[in-house]
Amino acid sequence: MALYNDKVIEHFTNPHNVGELLSPDGEGTYGSPVCGDMMKISIQVVDDVIVDTKFKTFGCGSAIASSSVATDMIKGKTIEDALKITNQDVLDELGGLPSIKIHCSVLADHAIRSAIYDYAKKHGKYYAGLEGFDPNADEDDQQHGCDMETHS
Ligand code: FES
Repeated sequence: MALYNDKVIEHFTNPHNVGELLSPDGEGTYGSPVCGDMMKISIQVVDDVIVDTKFKTFGCGSAIASSSVATDMIKGKTIEDALKITNQDVLDELGGLPSIKIHCSVLADHAIRSAIYDYAKKHGKYYAGLEGFDPNADEDDQQHGCDMETHS
């Protein structure tokens, strides 16, 4: 049985929203403390709606596919609605990941929240969905396997 489903392979092969916004309203970077992979997400916000977003990932295929799907999911959403998207929602949208790769998707989730946190801080905004979020906190990466692929 194949490890990765067709959707994961498609998003890894042709990822959406790759790059960096020139004048982002918010930026978030998250590095896994276990495998060292990194992800940077930038967002452009108009009237509390995420009108554009880009990502750069130095990481494995699962992280790239997760970033691609997660940025698709938040684009066009209000910040409040984007903050309601859970890591499980990203995994469901991907059609699942091998269990050892589930934590790769946490990179996308954390980097998006960090970008929104940065936006909120710079613009004096408060969002209930960010309560208790610490952009510098390490997620639980204990089962995080690393296959040493590198992409930017
Ligand atoms: S993000 Fe590090 S192994 Fe997937």
